[in-house]
Amino acid sequence: MNPTKIAPSLLAADFARLATEIGRIERWADWLHLDVMDGHFVPNISFGIPVIASLRKVTELYFDCHLMTTNPDAYVSELAEAGADLVTMHIEVIPDPTQAAQRARDHDLDFGLVCNPATPFEGIAPFAELCNVILIMAVEPGFGGQSFMPEVLAKVEAAREWVENRGLATDIQIDGGITPETARQAAEAGANVFVAGTAVFAADDPADAMKEIRRAVSKK
Ligand code: DX5
Ligand code: ZN
Repeated sequence: MNPTKIAPSLLAADFARLATEIGRIERWADWLHLDVMDGHFVPNISFGIPVIASLRKVTELYFDCHLMTTNPDAYVSELAEAGADLVTMHIEVIPDPTQAAQRARDHDLDFGLVCNPATPFEGIAPFAELCNVILIMAVEPGFGGQSFMPEVLAKVEAAREWVENRGLATDIQIDGGITPETARQAAEAGANVFVAGTAVFAADDPADAMKEIRRAVSKK
């Protein structure tokens, strides 16, 4: 079974003091989840490549870049340059991701595919071997602070089963509405990477919040 990873989402941090916010989570986080939104694929705009490049100077955390953009393939080389480690792209906008995955590899980036709550896992399944990560969205992408949709747990199970049956080491990531309780449910279904924005950055003590999530998923 793949190791548990906690990936705080910077979307829920105070954008006026990003370096300080990263300092609050750095020691207890495995990855830093960076939500890039273009105002087109999703109705919100967050931050982009120059911000990621600046953050690269203040932390060594693994940069997990979740692209919520219409044209994700176009940003691979700039993201690599900015210091990203992983790029994940939505299957809804890139139904054949073969070239994009190759481009990511050529730039020494890990690669992953994402599906929205309404998108079946079947679109991603044939490309699982190209993926370091398969990300199952548990909310509609675009905004933090929404409630976890338990109906996506069946897709987490399907993804876990698919990769296990093929002996793949793919991480199964869950994003949206993660709390200790929903993380536990997702872990039970087979997720091992947990993105949490509000639950971590809005907590009085983000370190405690991350420890609680870790505890909850280790008990499953
Ligand atoms: C939503 C983003 C999420 C978001 C999660 O579009 O992909 O990563 O930051 O936020 P919470 O944990 O608050 O649901
Ligand atoms: Zn995300």
